Amino acid sequence: MTEQVEDAVVVVADARPNERVVEALLACDAALEAGASERWLAVPYLAYARQDRSFEAGEGVSARAVLEAFSSCADAFVTVDVHSSGVLDFFAGAAVQGRAMPEVAAALEDRGIGSVLAPDEGARGLAEAVADRLEVPFDHLVKTRLSGSEVVVEPKALDVAGEAVVIVDDIIATGGTMCKATEQLLEAGAERVLVAATHGVFASGADERLDAAGVEEVVVTDSIPSKRGVVSCASALARGVSMLQEARS
Ligand code: R5P
Repeated sequence: MTEQVEDAVVVVADARPNERVVEALLACDAALEAGASERWLAVPYLAYARQDRSFEAGEGVSARAVLEAFSSCADAFVTVDVHSSGVLDFFAGAAVQGRAMPEVAAALEDRGIGSVLAPDEGARGLAEAVADRLEVPFDHLVKTRLSGSEVVVEPKALDVAGEAVVIVDDIIATGGTMCKATEQLLEAGAERVLVAATHGVFASGADERLDAAGVEEVVVTDSIPSKRGVVSCASALARGVSMLQEARS
């Protein structure tokens, strides 16, 4: 920072790839050095958030590791649609999340969507938010994870025959979850299936998998740069900052 400041400073940073975590820490430290009274760290996509417990012997809890590192340099933390809100407790100060579903839903408004589906119960709130905006019904599918890249979506009593449906989730990583859900819905007679998520990680092969599964369109925010990023997450992040302001005023 080139200027001295006295007020609280919001540092907007990425946490992916790994070197961005170090950049975030250094930017917060620069704000301290410049005289900021408080440092609020705003990270649209909180990398490592899905590892919120040790799933196998020998593994660390990466969400805790990253948020404890951020706690060392920031007084407050803002992110967008974190996988599980419980991980925010790993941050020592106030931590909130803004929601990107209003913008995601707006991007879907002219697609003729008849139903909104969450691929599992955990994403039901996201589906509801999109469905409310589109004024269509919503539901969730039942998913069982077999491995890191393999999931099974159990049939659910839902009449999607002849409809255009959108599946809404917090994140697309390998694409496995969206692909299984898409196949399930096409089998159930859906005419078209779109998928939407806040964060598009698109791990190696995800694009091809989504195309092969019959996904008509992918809508994600730009919380992670990608060629599929069509929706800005800036407003969601700003809403998170406003929540912090209100909570701390
Ligand atoms: C899991 O509960 C999450 O909400 C996502 O469904 C999951 O992380 C997506 O991962 P993938 O694209 O690898 O199936």
